[in-house]
Amino acid sequence: MNTAESIVLAAEKRLEHASTVDHIEQVRVDVLGKKGALTELLKGLGKLSAEERPSVGQAINAAKKNLIRLLDEKGEQLAEGARQKDLINTAIDVTMPGRGRTNGSAHPVSQVQAKIEDLFHHVGFEVARGPEIEDEYHNFEALNIPKHHPARAMHDTFYFKPDLLLRTHTSPVQIRVMKEKTLPIRIIAPGRVYRCDYDQTHSPMFHQVEGLWIDEIATMAELKGMLNSFLLAFFERDDLEIRYRPSYFPFTEPSMEVDIKLPSAHGLSGWLEVLGCGMVHPNVLTNVGLDPEQCSGFAFGMGVERLAMLKYGISDLRHFFENDLRFLSQF
Ligand code: PHE
Repeated sequence: MNTAESIVLAAEKRLEHASTVDHIEQVRVDVLGKKGALTELLKGLGKLSAEERPSVGQAINAAKKNLIRLLDEKGEQLAEGARQKDLINTAIDVTMPGRGRTNGSAHPVSQVQAKIEDLFHHVGFEVARGPEIEDEYHNFEALNIPKHHPARAMHDTFYFKPDLLLRTHTSPVQIRVMKEKTLPIRIIAPGRVYRCDYDQTHSPMFHQVEGLWIDEIATMAELKGMLNSFLLAFFERDDLEIRYRPSYFPFTEPSMEVDIKLPSAHGLSGWLEVLGCGMVHPNVLTNVGLDPEQCSGFAFGMGVERLAMLKYGISDLRHFFENDLRFLSQF
């Protein structure tokens, strides 16, 4: 009787220190297994006298029951400990502040383009579009830039094959519109243009907005008045200094380049070129079937990235194309 109890006591001691399921299992095998201590005691029952046998047998069975309960309890204890550990390890702190969602916004180039479109829309211009893959006729010839004209070399054109190229400016849209529409024409043509050029102020792809106004009579005074109002509104300064310089484009005559003067605080300062313009060349009008004696017009072209750089004081054009959110999110 004592022996059975002491076996259970010893097993209980071992269980107190058990820290794994394997430890518990080992105790079970040592006591209740085929060669376990209690099993051996049971085997010895047969050697006892008939009077002793029932009480000793009962004691062994009670000890066995007791031990099984202890084993179960310890097993449950370990499992519960593991569950708690797991809960702690995988816990989510619901009180932590969320990461939130940031609103996306239009790319600065798109914003500036939309602003230009909006300002010209107010004075009656419609948006026109043309293909980015052009032929020599629309990109050059019809614009009074015949083959071997030096202006072609200045355009650093990407060619697919001799007559197929990526447009180097939005001016070919002028040709398409004049061929299609009736007078009066007032369009702006925003879009991508391509030139084989890459540095701090040049990118192989950039955006231009072309403007074209053709009517029975259109004068240089109107061109200047309109561009002045546009520039004041675009740069949002009434005191903006604007200067017109004589220049040369094959498709306008006379031609001018327009500079603005920015305050030195801008980083970019002094007189800076913002656009090219001029009265549509009579050859261009003739090329599209218009009579230069019956109508006249003016055209202008501006670089969207360039305007954005001047407006926001950005010194490297390449920022626009790297799509670094630290840059983009400022707009
Ligand atoms: N197409 C010219 C350029 O890309 C700009 C321009 C357009 C000049 C219209 C005059 C008139 O530089």
